[in-house]
Amino acid sequence: MGTKLIIDTDPGVDDAFAIALAARSADVDLLGVTTVFGNVPLATTTSNARRLLQLCDRPDVPVAAGASRPLLYRELHRSSTVHGSDGLSGHAASLPDATRPLEDSDAVSLMVSLLEASDEPVTIAPIGPLTNIAALLAAHPGVRSKIARIVLMGGAITLGNSTAVSEFNIWADPDAARRVIAEDDVPCVMVPLDLTHRCAVDSTWLAKLAASGPVGQALNSFTPDYLAHYRQVLGYEGIVLHDAVAVAEAIHPGILRAETYPVDIDSGLGPTRGMTIVDRRAVPNISTGRPVEVAVDTELDVLREFVLSRLAGGR
Ligand code: BDR
Ligand code: CA
Repeated sequence: MGTKLIIDTDPGVDDAFAIALAARSADVDLLGVTTVFGNVPLATTTSNARRLLQLCDRPDVPVAAGASRPLLYRELHRSSTVHGSDGLSGHAASLPDATRPLEDSDAVSLMVSLLEASDEPVTIAPIGPLTNIAALLAAHPGVRSKIARIVLMGGAITLGNSTAVSEFNIWADPDAARRVIAEDDVPCVMVPLDLTHRCAVDSTWLAKLAASGPVGQALNSFTPDYLAHYRQVLGYEGIVLHDAVAVAEAIHPGILRAETYPVDIDSGLGPTRGMTIVDRRAVPNISTGRPVEVAVDTELDVLREFVLSRLAGGR
């Protein structure tokens, strides 16, 4: 039935688009959604994830809650100004209530049971801080053979968004990111800010989405605070759908063009904490970290149309 997928998420406006992209794609077998702290606290990300699946008419998808804080140090920052205090620009309450109860098991336990039960390798798309994924790999190394690849939104080759050098998902838990990206050998594709920014969508794209039906209309309604932030970042009326770009690659392998580079994470406590060090030198001397596929390019309009048609068209 197509790509088997688990999404680990902290909704978040762009997470909402990413969840809907997978949930509304007929060629994706969305096995489960796990939640993590991040854009807003865990209780809110969990409630948002469940209600977003209900919006997409997917009460068949189990949701389990995971980490409420980073592995080692307490959370330093939340991006509530970007996503609004409820994660969805103040519109979370307009979502339908979830009919499916939250799983009794935690995020890691749900991932383990879904991976073990799967007859084929599963893609995991982490689109928030990597705390749950680090815990999964550390506590259950045996399930790594069931992971086809991890396609994560995170990191930056050049400029960060939380700090000058650190992207939010990595900066929110650099120790977890280090464990997943630099210290493991599970196949990994990193989708950094450099590419997600180039995939930004404008007001015409959002208008088409809003006109496509109730799901598109709801997704568009989550964008005001986010749009206000990205108007300043981009210099025009548009938004960056970071997480949906990563999920597009997870469900349509090859839609992004990746190159393999050694990637390391600065998990020190200095000013470059959370930096992803992507070694693009032609002749590396000393390289730390491990080789990771880094998404560097795509056919921008093809990607935008792919996301729009799936969000608009439903299953
Ligand atoms: C990432 O940080 C979050 O604010 C977004 O949801 C995305 O996952 C972008 O840096
Ligand atoms: Ca996110």
